[in-house]
Amino acid sequence: MTASSPLLQDRPLDLDPERLPRHIAVIMDGNGRWAKQKGLPRIRGHQKGVDALKGLLRCCDDWGIPALTAYAFSTENWGRPLEEVEFLMTLFERVLRRELREMHEKNVQIRFVGNLGALPASLQAEIDRSMAETEQNTGIQFTVATNYGGQQEILDACRAIARLVQEGRLAPEEIDEAVMEKHLYTKGLSHPDLLIRTSGEMRISNFLLWQMAYAEIYVTSTLWPDFDRESLHQALLDFQGRHRRFGKL
Ligand code: IPE
Ligand code: IPE
Ligand code: MG
Repeated sequence: MTASSPLLQDRPLDLDPERLPRHIAVIMDGNGRWAKQKGLPRIRGHQKGVDALKGLLRCCDDWGIPALTAYAFSTENWGRPLEEVEFLMTLFERVLRRELREMHEKNVQIRFVGNLGALPASLQAEIDRSMAETEQNTGIQFTVATNYGGQQEILDACRAIARLVQEGRLAPEEIDEAVMEKHLYTKGLSHPDLLIRTSGEMRISNFLLWQMAYAEIYVTSTLWPDFDRESLHQALLDFQGRHRRFGKL
């Protein structure tokens, strides 16, 4: 997409296009509370949350943010009532089936990260299909963390690296940041510059622990289903007011 593309005109004028994050990660929290406030069952919050994610993906794409990673389901979320877990798994599958064509047409490159092998087989099939179909796309990198745990990701990487050492293909001294990166689920993806968490919780809940080393953290009290274009605008204004030092002066 070029700078003169009509879609990009949508970007608020008070944002500096040169200082946008290259990668936004989002913890989409507060679906249940949103529903409760309205006297609705929790699942209605999850349904509405899908629309919010669609809107965010579209904004990032239109405004020139090249990567978006969304936390959809944590390894800890299996601890929720079975009914809610089953609803979410079905929802993910249905949404993926419904939205894949449009995302593909928009040149979105879709990727799922997490322990995908433990997801229902029919969901895995949709995930595989979506990743294979959009693999060659060159537009926004859209990553969905599903059955994702940051600690588990690091453990998986450690196991893979330990095997290489055991087989004599790598010396312990050779294990550095680059080797680690190569064994993460997010291999090849830049680290998030900005983490957005909705619904006011000041924690990262096992999300992208390695990759978040220098992310700017933005927490808003807005509940995820209400997170819209203006919410993103505010998060980006806040981000652009930060001074990132990376340990230097
Ligand atoms: C986030 O919303 C969605 C998932 C974890 C799947 P929640 O379901 O955690 O909503 P709250 O935190 O209970 O409001
Ligand atoms: C984090 O939200 C996980 C996702 C958004 C998928 P949670 O609602 O599970 O996090 P906690 O339990 O408040 O830490
Ligand atoms: Mg929550």
